[in-house]
Amino acid sequence: TKCHSEIARVKNLERIHIGKHDVDTWYFSPFPPEFANASIVYICEFCLYHFMSERQFRRHLTKCEVIHPPGNEIYRDTNPNVSFFEIDGARQKTYCRNLCLLSKLFLDHKTLYYDTDPFLFYIMCLRDAKGCHIIGYFSKEKDSTEGYNLACILTLPQYQRRGYGKLLISFSYELSKREGKIGAPEKPLSDLGLLSYRAYWTETLVEVLLEANQSNDEVSIEELSIRTSISVQDITTTLHYIGAIKTLKGQPVIMIPSSVLEAYYRNKEKNRSSIRPELLAEWKPPK
Ligand code: ACO
Ligand code: ZN
Repeated sequence: TKCHSEIARVKNLERIHIGKHDVDTWYFSPFPPEFANASIVYICEFCLYHFMSERQFRRHLTKCEVIHPPGNEIYRDTNPNVSFFEIDGARQKTYCRNLCLLSKLFLDHKTLYYDTDPFLFYIMCLRDAKGCHIIGYFSKEKDSTEGYNLACILTLPQYQRRGYGKLLISFSYELSKREGKIGAPEKPLSDLGLLSYRAYWTETLVEVLLEANQSNDEVSIEELSIRTSISVQDITTTLHYIGAIKTLKGQPVIMIPSSVLEAYYRNKEKNRSSIRPELLAEWKPPK
């Protein structure tokens, strides 16, 4: 009932400690009830186990030998030192459940699935001498009948607004390209999800359109979709949103408004890193 779901939504944990960071939580997450009494919950950044007492947590750190997520490293860049690990939700149930518990603290509208079997998890890490530190992740259904290429996405709050969300989104589309498929994130998107996707879609479409323009190549929306693996619907919505669908001699045409182009070039100056597709050349979709 409505009443029950509203009770369930009351935030139960105030803060978590993970890696070097203390982070305020945003939403309810179904941790065991006794955790609601702890003023701060300690999470091992490598195995994602959680602890109510600092003493237990410190003891765990002296024993825990995990230094990276429990799966294959399918992508490794050296500038920046970003790696992606691919984890099968059916094989690494504990890790994936712990990851879902952690991410639910920052995701409002998603139901938490205890059954992680149907999902793959792509964990993005920064590497240093200590190990691979989780920055964010996304989950993906192994078989999506709706054509989704991403179920849930999270950048841990301490790393947000630095371009990591864009790397995660871009990675999800690179996987779709390698699969020869068109993909889309599961709807509805959160406010932050929509802002980030819109930014990614706009940047990607402007880039392809500028390239096409240089070679006097006329591209249709279907062609844009094939080149980017972004769905026709997401492309259409984005082009309308940025005001790029104009009518010329009674025909609809794509024309990027100059304000959007200026924003695109300004954004380029941030020199943020991007996913290098060639580093994924050996990846094959898991069976
Ligand atoms: N305010 C305004 N614009 C924003 C914001 C914000 N708070 N966050 C992202 N954007 C837009 C900006 O255009 C930004 O580019 P800019 O920083 O150059 O201006 C662009 O999105 C990309 O931002 P990133 O730094 O790459 O994204 P970030 O690492 O912060 O991650 C994410 C985005 C994953 C959505 C993060 O906000 C998050 O984890 N939120 C909580 C969980 C969530 O809501 N996930 C999406 C749910 S929907 C789904 O899972 C399918
Ligand atoms: Zn651990």
